[in-house]
Amino acid sequence: MSHSTKPIIAAEPVEFSAELLAKMEEAKNLFPDGKEKSALLKMLHLAQAEFGWVSVPTMDKIADLLSIQPVEVYEVATFYTMFHLEPVGKYVFEVCRTGPCMLVGSDQLIEHIGKKLNIGVGETTADGLFTLKTAECLGGCGYGPLLQCRHRFHEHLTAEKVDELMEQYRRGEIESGAL
Ligand code: FES
Repeated sequence: MSHSTKPIIAAEPVEFSAELLAKMEEAKNLFPDGKEKSALLKMLHLAQAEFGWVSVPTMDKIADLLSIQPVEVYEVATFYTMFHLEPVGKYVFEVCRTGPCMLVGSDQLIEHIGKKLNIGVGETTADGLFTLKTAECLGGCGYGPLLQCRHRFHEHLTAEKVDELMEQYRRGEIESGAL
């Protein structure tokens, strides 16, 4: 994850379910005594898990829940590449392309995935299943090349392994990792 300049696109207003609101409240309660703002990252993750991406109305709602300015939420959401500020596919492959991963073939892996799915970086397949993204160091430098998808890390990837991975996701065989 790292700083990036990403466009923020507008979207329809969102409705937070009672269940989501309860989770947000729980996150806030982890940081009492005026420190509720520290729950912001967790709340963005919760919203993204619910809606698949983080829209402006979603960020505005989170700002409201935390009694902070919307711009404070925008700043955090745009800083981290892990937050999707536009609609994405069901499965987002975020491939690390920082130095150590690049040295063991992340660029070739990105190219392979793009060709296989017939999309470029930042694009989503026509069936809405996969989005290909790149990321800065994901914290698994000794295990590259690697990608993250739905809070799961897939390591030491090769073209063959990633082909099998795509099929497994397609078949719905891989559970999301814990938030
Ligand atoms: Fe790829 Fe750190 S460089 S995980």
